[in-house]
Amino acid sequence: MTPGVPPRHVACIMDGNGRWAQHRGLERTHGHMAARAALEAAVDGALEHEVEWLTLFAFSTENWSRPEEEVSFLVRFLAQHVIGRGARSMHERGVRLRLLGRTDPRVPAEVLDRLREAEELTRDNSTLQLSLAFNYGGRQDLCEAARSLLLQEVPAAEITDENLARHMLLPELPDVDLLLRTGGEHRLSNFLLWHCAYAELVFLDVLWPDFRTVHLRHAVELYQQRQRRFGTVGRTDAADAAAPTVAGTAAAPPDAAPPAVEATAPAIGTGLVPSLAPSALLSLPTSIASHLGATLWDGLRETARSTLHRLTGEPTGPGRDNQSS
Ligand code: FPP
Repeated sequence: MTPGVPPRHVACIMDGNGRWAQHRGLERTHGHMAARAALEAAVDGALEHEVEWLTLFAFSTENWSRPEEEVSFLVRFLAQHVIGRGARSMHERGVRLRLLGRTDPRVPAEVLDRLREAEELTRDNSTLQLSLAFNYGGRQDLCEAARSLLLQEVPAAEITDENLARHMLLPELPDVDLLLRTGGEHRLSNFLLWHCAYAELVFLDVLWPDFRTVHLRHAVELYQQRQRRFGTVGRTDAADAAAPTVAGTAAAPPDAAPPAVEATAPAIGTGLVPSLAPSALLSLPTSIASHLGATLWDGLRETARSTLHRLTGEPTGPGRDNQSS
Protein backbone atom coordinates (compact mmCIF):
# COMPACT_ATOMS: atom_id res chain seq x y z
CA MET A 1 0.00 0.00 0.00
CA THR A 2 1.18 3.48 -0.76
CA PRO A 3 1.98 5.03 2.60
CA GLY A 4 -0.18 8.01 3.42
CA VAL A 5 -2.15 9.90 5.98
CA PRO A 6 -5.22 7.97 7.19
CA PRO A 7 -8.55 9.74 6.85
CA ARG A 8 -9.57 11.55 10.03
CA HIS A 9 -13.29 11.45 9.26
CA VAL A 10 -14.88 8.59 7.33
CA ALA A 11 -18.57 8.81 6.44
CA CYS A 12 -20.53 5.84 5.08
CA ILE A 13 -23.76 5.64 3.15
CA MET A 14 -24.88 2.16 4.07
CA ASP A 15 -26.76 1.25 0.91
CA GLY A 16 -27.93 -2.10 -0.44
CA ASN A 17 -29.79 -3.83 2.40
CA GLY A 18 -33.05 -4.12 0.49
CA ARG A 19 -31.39 -5.48 -2.65
CA TRP A 20 -29.33 -7.95 -0.58
CA ALA A 21 -32.56 -9.37 0.84
CA GLN A 22 -34.41 -9.32 -2.50
CA HIS A 23 -31.59 -11.28 -4.17
CA ARG A 24 -32.25 -13.98 -1.60
CA GLY A 25 -36.03 -13.90 -1.97
CA LEU A 26 -36.37 -12.34 1.50
CA GLU A 27 -38.23 -9.34 2.87
CA ARG A 28 -36.24 -6.08 2.91
CA THR A 29 -36.22 -6.16 6.70
CA HIS A 30 -33.95 -9.23 6.58
CA GLY A 31 -31.41 -7.07 4.78
CA HIS A 32 -31.50 -4.57 7.65
CA MET A 33 -31.03 -7.39 10.17
CA ALA A 34 -28.03 -8.65 8.20
CA ALA A 35 -26.62 -5.13 8.16
CA ARG A 36 -25.63 -5.20 11.80
CA ALA A 37 -22.49 -7.25 11.14
CA ALA A 38 -21.46 -4.73 8.49
CA LEU A 39 -21.91 -1.88 10.92
CA GLU A 40 -19.70 -3.69 13.43
CA ALA A 41 -17.13 -4.21 10.67
CA ALA A 42 -17.16 -0.49 9.88
CA VAL A 43 -16.46 0.30 13.53
CA ASP A 44 -13.71 -2.37 13.73
CA GLY A 45 -12.15 -1.06 10.54
CA ALA A 46 -12.25 2.53 11.76
CA LEU A 47 -10.53 1.48 14.98
CA GLU A 48 -7.95 -0.50 13.01
CA HIS A 49 -7.07 2.54 10.89
CA GLU A 50 -7.19 4.94 13.83
CA VAL A 51 -9.92 6.97 12.19
CA GLU A 52 -11.09 9.63 14.66
CA TRP A 53 -14.60 10.18 13.36
CA LEU A 54 -16.97 7.69 11.74
CA THR A 55 -20.40 8.86 10.60
CA LEU A 56 -22.93 6.31 9.39
CA PHE A 57 -26.06 7.23 7.44
CA ALA A 58 -28.79 5.09 8.95
CA PHE A 59 -31.98 6.95 8.12
CA SER A 60 -32.55 10.09 6.09
CA THR A 61 -35.26 12.74 6.44
CA GLU A 62 -36.58 11.38 3.14
CA ASN A 63 -36.68 7.76 4.33
CA TRP A 64 -39.95 8.41 6.17
CA SER A 65 -41.61 7.97 2.79
CA ARG A 66 -40.59 4.30 2.61
CA PRO A 67 -43.33 1.72 3.33
CA GLU A 68 -44.59 2.22 6.87
CA GLU A 69 -43.74 -1.34 7.93
CA GLU A 70 -40.14 -0.92 6.91
CA VAL A 71 -39.85 2.45 8.63
CA SER A 72 -41.20 1.24 11.92
CA PHE A 73 -39.01 -1.87 11.75
CA LEU A 74 -35.91 0.22 11.04
CA VAL A 75 -36.54 2.72 13.81
CA ARG A 76 -36.98 0.01 16.43
CA PHE A 77 -34.25 -2.25 15.08
CA LEU A 78 -31.68 0.54 15.15
CA ALA A 79 -32.59 1.48 18.71
CA GLN A 80 -32.83 -2.03 20.14
CA HIS A 81 -30.22 -4.04 18.31
CA VAL A 82 -27.70 -1.61 16.90
CA ILE A 83 -27.61 0.91 19.72
CA GLY A 84 -29.21 -0.91 22.66
CA ARG A 85 -27.25 -4.16 22.46
CA GLY A 86 -24.24 -2.69 20.73
CA ALA A 87 -23.69 0.17 23.18
CA ARG A 88 -21.88 -1.88 25.82
CA SER A 89 -19.37 -3.33 23.36
CA MET A 90 -18.78 0.09 21.82
CA HIS A 91 -18.24 1.53 25.27
CA GLU A 92 -15.67 -1.16 26.05
CA ARG A 93 -13.78 -0.26 22.89
CA GLY A 94 -13.68 3.43 23.74
CA VAL A 95 -16.26 4.47 21.16
CA ARG A 96 -18.34 7.56 21.80
CA LEU A 97 -21.74 7.20 20.20
CA ARG A 98 -23.77 10.21 19.17
CA LEU A 99 -26.96 10.77 17.32
CA LEU A 100 -26.81 13.11 14.34
CA GLY A 101 -30.31 14.12 13.36
CA ARG A 102 -33.34 16.12 14.27
CA THR A 103 -35.78 15.06 16.91
CA ASP A 104 -39.07 14.10 15.38
CA PRO A 105 -42.44 13.27 16.91
CA ARG A 106 -42.54 10.15 14.72
CA VAL A 107 -39.66 8.62 16.70
CA PRO A 108 -41.19 6.72 19.64
CA ALA A 109 -40.14 7.97 23.09
CA GLU A 110 -38.62 4.64 24.14
CA VAL A 111 -36.45 4.63 21.04
CA LEU A 112 -35.16 8.11 21.86
CA ASP A 113 -34.54 6.99 25.45
CA ARG A 114 -32.32 4.13 24.20
CA LEU A 115 -30.35 6.52 22.04
CA ARG A 116 -29.89 9.00 24.87
CA GLU A 117 -28.80 6.22 27.28
CA ALA A 118 -26.15 5.07 24.82
CA GLU A 119 -24.94 8.64 24.38
CA GLU A 120 -24.73 9.06 28.12
CA LEU A 121 -22.91 5.74 28.67
CA THR A 122 -20.24 6.53 26.10
CA ARG A 123 -19.92 10.30 26.54
CA ASP A 124 -16.38 10.26 27.99
CA ASN A 125 -14.92 7.93 25.36
CA SER A 126 -12.49 9.33 22.85
CA THR A 127 -10.95 6.50 20.80
CA LEU A 128 -13.54 6.86 18.04
CA GLN A 129 -16.35 9.40 17.64
CA LEU A 130 -19.20 7.46 16.08
CA SER A 131 -22.13 9.51 14.82
CA LEU A 132 -25.24 7.73 13.72
CA ALA A 133 -27.09 9.90 11.24
CA PHE A 134 -30.71 9.20 11.95
CA ASN A 135 -33.51 11.38 10.61
CA TYR A 136 -30.70 13.37 9.05
CA GLY A 137 -30.73 15.53 5.93
CA GLY A 138 -27.85 17.69 4.72
CA ARG A 139 -30.12 20.41 3.37
CA GLN A 140 -32.18 20.47 6.55
CA ASP A 141 -28.98 20.81 8.60
CA LEU A 142 -28.03 23.86 6.52
CA CYS A 143 -31.51 25.39 6.78
CA GLU A 144 -31.45 24.85 10.53
CA ALA A 145 -28.08 26.60 10.79
CA ALA A 146 -29.38 29.55 8.72
CA ARG A 147 -32.46 29.77 10.92
CA SER A 148 -30.35 29.70 14.06
CA LEU A 149 -28.07 32.48 12.75
CA LEU A 150 -31.12 34.61 11.98
CA LEU A 151 -32.75 33.95 15.34
CA GLN A 152 -29.54 35.00 17.07
CA GLU A 153 -29.40 38.11 14.90
CA VAL A 154 -25.87 37.38 13.76
CA PRO A 155 -24.77 40.28 11.49
CA ALA A 156 -24.35 39.33 7.84
CA ALA A 157 -20.65 40.21 7.93
CA GLU A 158 -20.11 37.62 10.64
CA ILE A 159 -21.51 34.75 8.63
CA THR A 160 -18.40 32.81 7.81
CA ASP A 161 -17.70 29.11 7.19
CA GLU A 162 -16.69 28.64 10.81
CA ASN A 163 -19.62 30.55 12.24
CA LEU A 164 -22.19 28.74 10.13
CA ALA A 165 -20.71 25.37 11.11
CA ARG A 166 -21.13 26.30 14.76
CA HIS A 167 -24.90 26.45 14.20
CA MET A 168 -25.20 23.01 12.64
CA LEU A 169 -26.57 19.90 14.37
CA LEU A 170 -23.19 18.65 15.54
CA PRO A 171 -20.91 21.70 15.46
CA GLU A 172 -17.74 19.77 16.22
CA LEU A 173 -18.23 17.33 13.31
CA PRO A 174 -15.14 17.86 11.15
CA ASP A 175 -15.01 17.88 7.36
CA VAL A 176 -15.34 14.44 5.82
CA ASP A 177 -12.08 13.13 4.37
CA LEU A 178 -13.40 9.88 2.90
CA LEU A 179 -17.01 9.42 1.84
CA LEU A 180 -17.83 5.82 1.15
CA ARG A 181 -21.05 4.53 -0.39
CA THR A 182 -21.83 0.85 -0.82
CA GLY A 183 -24.46 -0.63 -3.10
CA GLY A 184 -23.12 0.62 -6.42
CA GLU A 185 -24.97 3.96 -6.56
CA HIS A 186 -22.93 7.09 -7.17
CA ARG A 187 -24.69 9.84 -5.27
CA LEU A 188 -24.78 11.67 -1.94
CA SER A 189 -28.55 11.42 -1.29
CA ASN A 190 -28.55 14.52 0.94
CA PHE A 191 -25.82 13.25 3.28
CA LEU A 192 -23.39 15.69 4.95
CA LEU A 193 -23.54 18.18 2.07
CA TRP A 194 -21.60 20.85 3.96
CA HIS A 195 -18.99 18.50 5.41
CA CYS A 196 -18.29 16.70 2.13
CA ALA A 197 -17.09 19.85 0.34
CA TYR A 198 -13.61 18.34 -0.15
CA ALA A 199 -14.29 14.70 0.66
CA GLU A 200 -12.70 12.00 -1.43
CA LEU A 201 -15.54 9.87 -2.81
CA VAL A 202 -15.29 6.08 -2.99
CA PHE A 203 -18.18 4.01 -4.36
CA LEU A 204 -18.10 0.28 -3.78
CA ASP A 205 -20.16 -2.38 -5.57
CA VAL A 206 -20.57 -4.45 -2.43
CA LEU A 207 -24.05 -4.43 -0.85
CA TRP A 208 -23.99 -3.11 2.72
CA PRO A 209 -24.76 -6.42 4.52
CA ASP A 210 -21.65 -7.90 2.85
CA PHE A 211 -19.41 -5.01 3.87
CA ARG A 212 -16.44 -6.14 5.99
CA THR A 213 -13.22 -4.60 7.30
CA VAL A 214 -11.46 -5.63 4.08
CA HIS A 215 -13.72 -3.21 2.18
CA LEU A 216 -12.89 -0.35 4.50
CA ARG A 217 -9.20 -1.20 4.16
CA HIS A 218 -9.58 -1.08 0.39
CA ALA A 219 -11.34 2.30 0.55
CA VAL A 220 -8.62 3.70 2.82
CA GLU A 221 -5.99 2.45 0.35
CA LEU A 222 -7.76 4.22 -2.50
CA TYR A 223 -8.00 7.36 -0.38
CA GLN A 224 -4.30 7.23 0.35
CA GLN A 225 -3.52 7.08 -3.35
CA ARG A 226 -5.47 10.26 -4.06
CA GLN A 227 -3.89 13.66 -4.25
CA ARG A 228 -5.96 16.21 -2.38
CA ARG A 229 -5.49 19.78 -3.54
CA PHE A 230 -8.24 21.79 -1.80
CA GLY A 231 -8.40 24.14 -4.75
CA THR A 232 -4.70 24.90 -4.77
CA VAL A 233 -2.16 23.82 -7.36
CA GLY A 234 -1.11 20.26 -6.66
CA ARG A 235 2.42 19.66 -5.62
CA THR A 236 3.09 17.59 -8.73
CA ASP A 237 1.68 20.26 -11.05
CA ALA A 238 3.57 23.06 -9.33
CA ALA A 239 6.98 21.47 -9.25
CA ASP A 240 7.18 18.78 -11.90
CA ALA A 241 10.92 18.50 -11.78
CA ALA A 242 11.16 18.51 -8.02
CA ALA A 243 8.46 15.95 -7.32
CA PRO A 244 9.16 12.58 -8.92
CA THR A 245 6.15 10.82 -7.46
CA VAL A 246 3.53 8.72 -9.24
CA ALA A 247 0.76 8.78 -6.67
CA GLY A 248 0.44 11.70 -4.30
CA THR A 249 -0.82 11.05 -0.80
CA ALA A 250 -1.24 14.52 0.59
CA ALA A 251 -4.23 14.88 2.89
CA ALA A 252 -3.49 18.25 4.38
CA PRO A 253 -5.41 21.51 4.40
CA PRO A 254 -4.29 24.19 1.95
CA ASP A 255 -2.32 26.14 4.51
CA ALA A 256 -0.37 23.12 5.75
CA ALA A 257 3.24 22.55 4.77
CA PRO A 258 3.52 20.51 1.58
CA PRO A 259 3.85 16.78 2.23
CA ALA A 260 7.20 15.12 1.91
CA VAL A 261 7.85 13.66 -1.53
CA GLU A 262 7.64 9.91 -1.46
CA ALA A 263 11.01 8.32 -1.85
CA THR A 264 9.65 5.14 -3.37
CA ALA A 265 6.97 4.90 -6.01
CA PRO A 266 4.63 1.91 -6.31
CA ALA A 267 6.13 -1.15 -7.96
CA ILE A 268 6.58 0.19 -11.44
CA GLY A 269 9.60 -0.55 -13.60
CA THR A 270 10.63 -3.52 -11.51
CA GLY A 271 10.67 -5.86 -14.50
CA LEU A 272 6.95 -6.59 -14.32
CA VAL A 273 6.13 -3.77 -16.72
CA PRO A 274 9.31 -3.53 -18.82
CA SER A 275 7.89 -1.13 -21.39
CA LEU A 276 7.22 1.53 -18.74
CA ALA A 277 10.32 2.08 -16.67
CA PRO A 278 10.21 4.90 -14.06
CA SER A 279 12.36 7.10 -16.28
CA ALA A 280 9.79 6.77 -19.08
CA LEU A 281 7.03 7.69 -16.67
CA LEU A 282 8.94 10.65 -15.33
CA SER A 283 9.47 12.09 -18.78
CA LEU A 284 5.71 12.34 -19.19
CA PRO A 285 3.81 15.36 -17.83
CA THR A 286 3.45 14.58 -14.15
CA SER A 287 -0.35 14.54 -14.11
CA ILE A 288 -0.36 11.83 -16.80
CA ALA A 289 2.45 9.87 -15.16
CA SER A 290 0.63 10.08 -11.88
CA HIS A 291 -2.58 8.70 -13.36
CA LEU A 292 -0.71 6.01 -15.28
CA GLY A 293 1.22 4.98 -12.20
CA ALA A 294 -1.91 4.66 -10.07
CA THR A 295 -3.66 2.67 -12.81
CA LEU A 296 -0.73 0.30 -13.20
CA TRP A 297 -0.48 -0.09 -9.47
CA ASP A 298 -4.17 -1.03 -9.27
CA GLY A 299 -3.69 -3.54 -12.09
CA LEU A 300 -0.68 -5.15 -10.43
CA ARG A 301 -2.46 -5.41 -7.12
CA GLU A 302 -5.51 -6.96 -8.76
CA THR A 303 -3.29 -9.55 -10.52
CA ALA A 304 -1.55 -10.38 -7.23
CA ARG A 305 -4.92 -10.72 -5.54
CA SER A 306 -6.40 -13.08 -8.11
CA THR A 307 -3.20 -15.17 -8.20
CA LEU A 308 -3.34 -15.51 -4.44
CA HIS A 309 -7.02 -16.37 -4.68
CA ARG A 310 -6.27 -19.12 -7.25
CA LEU A 311 -3.46 -20.54 -5.12
CA THR A 312 -5.15 -20.47 -1.73
CA GLY A 313 -8.85 -20.41 -2.57
CA GLU A 314 -9.16 -17.64 0.07
CA PRO A 315 -11.05 -14.44 -0.73
CA THR A 316 -8.41 -11.75 -0.95
CA GLY A 317 -10.12 -8.51 -1.59
CA PRO A 318 -13.29 -6.52 -1.82
CA GLY A 319 -15.95 -6.65 -4.50
CA ARG A 320 -18.98 -8.65 -5.45
CA ASP A 321 -16.93 -11.79 -5.98
CA ASN A 322 -16.20 -11.87 -2.30
CA GLN A 323 -19.69 -11.45 -0.95
CA SER A 324 -20.22 -13.77 1.94
CA SER A 325 -23.14 -15.62 0.48
C1 FPP B 1 -29.35 6.82 1.19
O1 FPP B 1 -30.04 6.18 0.20
C2 FPP B 1 -28.98 5.81 2.16
C3 FPP B 1 -29.34 5.86 3.45
C4 FPP B 1 -30.10 6.96 4.03
C5 FPP B 1 -28.89 4.79 4.31
C6 FPP B 1 -30.04 3.97 4.75
C7 FPP B 1 -29.48 2.87 5.54
C8 FPP B 1 -30.19 1.90 6.07
C9 FPP B 1 -31.64 1.82 5.90
C10 FPP B 1 -29.47 0.82 6.84
C11 FPP B 1 -29.58 1.03 8.28
C12 FPP B 1 -28.57 0.24 8.96
C13 FPP B 1 -28.77 -0.79 9.78
C14 FPP B 1 -27.59 -1.37 10.44
C15 FPP B 1 -30.08 -1.41 10.03
P1 FPP B 1 -31.56 6.43 -0.07
O2 FPP B 1 -32.14 5.13 -0.51
O3 FPP B 1 -32.19 7.09 1.12
O4 FPP B 1 -31.49 7.51 -1.22
P2 FPP B 1 -31.57 7.26 -2.78
O5 FPP B 1 -33.02 7.11 -3.09
O6 FPP B 1 -30.96 8.50 -3.36
O7 FPP B 1 -30.78 6.04 -3.10
